[in-house]
Amino acid sequence: MSGFYASRLNRPGAVLAPMAGYSDAPMRQLAAEQGALWTVSEMISARGLMEHDGPDLTLGRPYPGESARVVQLFGAIPEYLAAAVQRTEEWFAPAAIDLNMGCPVPKVHGKGGACLLQTPEVAYSLIRAMKSATTLDVSAKIRLGWDENRAVEVAQGLEAAGAAMITVHGRTSKQRYTGEADWDAIAQVAAAVNIPVIGSGDITTLDAARQRQSSGVAAVMIGRGAVGNPWLFAALASGSDEYPSAQVRARTALRHAELQAEFYGEDRYGVRSVKPLRKVLPKYLPDHPELRDELVKVDTAQDVARVLAPLLDG
Ligand SMILES: Cc1cc2nc3c(=O)[nH]c(=O)nc-3n(C[C@H](O)[C@H](O)[C@H](O)COP(=O)(O)O)c2cc1C
Repeated sequence: MSGFYASRLNRPGAVLAPMAGYSDAPMRQLAAEQGALWTVSEMISARGLMEHDGPDLTLGRPYPGESARVVQLFGAIPEYLAAAVQRTEEWFAPAAIDLNMGCPVPKVHGKGGACLLQTPEVAYSLIRAMKSATTLDVSAKIRLGWDENRAVEVAQGLEAAGAAMITVHGRTSKQRYTGEADWDAIAQVAAAVNIPVIGSGDITTLDAARQRQSSGVAAVMIGRGAVGNPWLFAALASGSDEYPSAQVRARTALRHAELQAEFYGEDRYGVRSVKPLRKVLPKYLPDHPELRDELVKVDTAQDVARVLAPLLDG
């Protein structure tokens, strides 16, 4: 097998999950630096991409020098997906392109996402259309099903349509994020197709990651557990178990804020705002709950430096 995914899967490590509102350029940069096998953008609407008229779309824009980044698209109309793939390739230099078949959010219903699990033949036609528009690997990220597990059937159909890789989040759409991801069901998919299967769901610790790595998947994907903890990728890539000191974590939290300010630039008030990181920064310092109240109020990277000063200076 050749292509981007095959070239990355010949080494140890884990993949950064696509997460709307989280897996943006700054988070991807930190994960990539720590050795993530690849990262995946937040999902981008194929239709939205067609209506946009330049490569400045922040959801798709890479950070300078970014590589090994997969762009995820969602939609339900083959012609839109094919055109969006061309735009994505032209504007955003992706390493591969992924189709979202797992998003259960209501506003995406009827337009793709997990809805495609109810009409998988539509998903197969989307994969074929996407492949007709690019020579890059095209992959899909599914849940187990809409309200019951039909992941093996769907994965085999996606493989036949030409998908180069499938990621399985081990929950149904109906479950949203409740209950536990079913890794037995993920393993069944991995055993039923000849393309690599990446497993996703509830990996928050190194032990969990290592246990899941031996379930027959080609690699594991980490989402929520990587928020404030990019070192999970380093540990899985290198085999070491190190969780850095509070000083190193505080420095990385500040760096995250600086990358945020740099990538997004000034808002309409002329402020390089880091407000979207209010939900992220405390996760770097779970052992310093006394900083939480201040970290969830920061506006700028300077605020972050002030709040973290006691730790930064060591
Ligand atoms: C806030 C949030 C946003 C997400 N956005 C996406 C998305 O844009 N595309 C996608 O395929 N999955 C998305 N997911 C699902 C994750 O990629 C992942 O499959 C899921 O969270 C389970 O993995 P985890 O337990 O490691 O977080 C999102 C999850 C969360 C929590």
